Amino acid sequence: MKSPYLLLAALVTVAIACFPARKTGPLYADASAPLEERVQDALSRMSVEEKVALTHAQSKFSSAGVPRLGIPELWHTDGPHGIRPEVLWDEWDQAGWTNDSCTAFPALVNLAATWDRELSLLYGRSIGEEARYREKDILLGPGVNMGRTPLNGRTFEYMGEDPYLASALVVPYVKGVQENGVAACVKHFAVNNQEVRRTATSSNVDDRTLYEIYLPAFQAAVQEGGAWAIMGSYNLYNGQFNCHNKKLLCDILKDEWGFDGVVISDWGGCRDDDEAIVNGLDIEMGTWTNGLSGNASDSYANYHLANPYLARLRDGRATEEVLNDKASRILRTIFRTSMGEQHFGSFNSPEHYAAARKIAAEGIVLLQNDGTLPLSIPEGGKLLVVGENAYKMMVVGGGSSNLKTKYEIIPLEALHEVFDGHAQVVWERGYVGDTTTDYNKVVTGQDLSESRSAGQLLSDAVQAAQDADCVLFIGGLNKSDGQDNEGTDREDIVLPYGQDTLIEALAAVAKKMVVVNISGSPVAMPWAPKVNAIVQSWYGGSESGHALADVLTGAVNPSGKLPFTMPLALADGPLKTERQYPGIREEGQEWWQEYYDEGVFIGYRWYSSKGIPVQFPFGHGLSYTTFSLSDAAVKAAGKDRFTVTATLTNTGSVAGAEVVQLYISDVEASVERPVKELKGFQKVYLKPGESRKLSFSLGRKDLSFFDASKHEWVAEAGAFKALVGTSSEDIAASLDFSLR
Ligand code: BGC
Repeated sequence: MKSPYLLLAALVTVAIACFPARKTGPLYADASAPLEERVQDALSRMSVEEKVALTHAQSKFSSAGVPRLGIPELWHTDGPHGIRPEVLWDEWDQAGWTNDSCTAFPALVNLAATWDRELSLLYGRSIGEEARYREKDILLGPGVNMGRTPLNGRTFEYMGEDPYLASALVVPYVKGVQENGVAACVKHFAVNNQEVRRTATSSNVDDRTLYEIYLPAFQAAVQEGGAWAIMGSYNLYNGQFNCHNKKLLCDILKDEWGFDGVVISDWGGCRDDDEAIVNGLDIEMGTWTNGLSGNASDSYANYHLANPYLARLRDGRATEEVLNDKASRILRTIFRTSMGEQHFGSFNSPEHYAAARKIAAEGIVLLQNDGTLPLSIPEGGKLLVVGENAYKMMVVGGGSSNLKTKYEIIPLEALHEVFDGHAQVVWERGYVGDTTTDYNKVVTGQDLSESRSAGQLLSDAVQAAQDADCVLFIGGLNKSDGQDNEGTDREDIVLPYGQDTLIEALAAVAKKMVVVNISGSPVAMPWAPKVNAIVQSWYGGSESGHALADVLTGAVNPSGKLPFTMPLALADGPLKTERQYPGIREEGQEWWQEYYDEGVFIGYRWYSSKGIPVQFPFGHGLSYTTFSLSDAAVKAAGKDRFTVTATLTNTGSVAGAEVVQLYISDVEASVERPVKELKGFQKVYLKPGESRKLSFSLGRKDLSFFDASKHEWVAEAGAFKALVGTSSEDIAASLDFSLR
């Protein structure tokens, strides 16, 4: 017979398993308790003053918790390409830490050019791990404003000109970040598509355009990505500032989309005491120490959501109900992050640098190639590298995305690694662009001073080109004022610093000429027919040089695709008038007014619908192998659903990836619609000779336009075309189908 003690022991074990000991301490501190119960519990213990303290900054990058209850403050950080170095508590100066040099990931436009959802997840995870290790709770990114004008100084921080592409890529990024208990703060909500007068311009946009072009990526981030934070933008939308824009924040984001996270102002973007309270803002952050416009030390109490808010609560102009909603959202964020499931993250790991290199390389776009690439320089031959961007470190600069990285491999260094011992690599600067080596006190240590005149630089480069086996020009833009930079827009898409003249001069003497354009936004390439190959590279982060060398030498077969159109000239684009861009101000008006008269016709929607030729179309990008698309077909797949299939074959001799793109054309519509709109894509890796059958699913929403009068998406019965191709202009099959 079994011992009764054994039986008793078994019963106790079962009881312990079924009824674990109650955790000691308050419910809100129990990370395993249901989130909403934790929020209500904490809220019930807090005074009005403690709740208000949550709603505004207490330093440049933190907002208060509830110290009395042991609820920690929230630490915010830029974003979106790496974890920003520490600044002082109440100053923009560097704090001088020596342990805050991060992995710099490629700019978001580079990520967008990968057209790869898995790489976006890898990016989000990696940067989330870095944020968590640095004990940051809110990552200020990603940015998903649409490329309305190629001049926008922050194009490099965004994901291109198409809402479908940006939506597809923002979702995994957000999920990857948040897996680490770090909130992704998706920015800048919304219609913030230029830097020029960004704090004084009202974007006046109709609902159809808003819903079809400017909102989808934010909506996807919230509803599919589950984003925990959103940043309101500096500009006004239809006459009201976006950090407290009722329609955007209350009606659309919180009511229509059911967003339960926290709305954070852009730094200094909150402009009004009363609107800040009632129009959906939860945390007010500031650029200047008074949150508004000027410098005063440590005066966070003056913020709109600080003393002015308390005064209104005390005299009845503001209600505690609204305050409770804000406090709940902030508590939810704290319980999801620092007081959530424990994560520890990792920092500067080899895996993060490997991820940065992979993403950077996969986003590099081969625009043109007559076989000159991959580079082949004869033994003992000479590769002449010309251009400042071969040498200039560019992890620094650009504004708030400025980073301090542990190391940065410049293109020239990577080319030396590859060719030294085999061929001679010679560098000529060719032109002087931006000699800054110190951005907001993050110092690169490079010496970019130059004593030669522009004429001398050009003739030295041309002279050196005479006996080179190949001239590799590496130029483009940089991250200083008036280029790819926050706070300013460009004036034109023409390359600066006389680079067009230099490229033409080199092309005239070079045996072979390859141009690498490093930029975060479109540039004109009038010399394209005169050079053998063109590569679009980006601000690739710590490993940018390696990534570029990988592609140039064929170690990586290029597979990037343009996330925006490369126009022939600025004047070809959709923004024709000052009222469209950069805005006008009439007598007596306080703010500049900008009208989105072009409607939904931005980027390729404009060029393809109007039949305007471009230098390189949206979605374009070549490979060192060749692909063919065959057997394309469309068939009905149940009520209002269709399946499009096609077979992709690698017809060349090396392994590589192609991005197969599906565009939809509404042939008979009651409203004017673009001739094509992206509704699906797949990036497929194939060995030489390998084939894969691809399948895309289409539903009503993919065939719809937004009917503003009904406030709903409408798919009209009638004829449609499914266009399957490898860019927006390279369409292999046009398939007819109809919706009943
Ligand atoms: C930028 C934001 C950034 C914030 C904090 C603002 O000027 O617009 O994108 O996150 O500063 O640095």
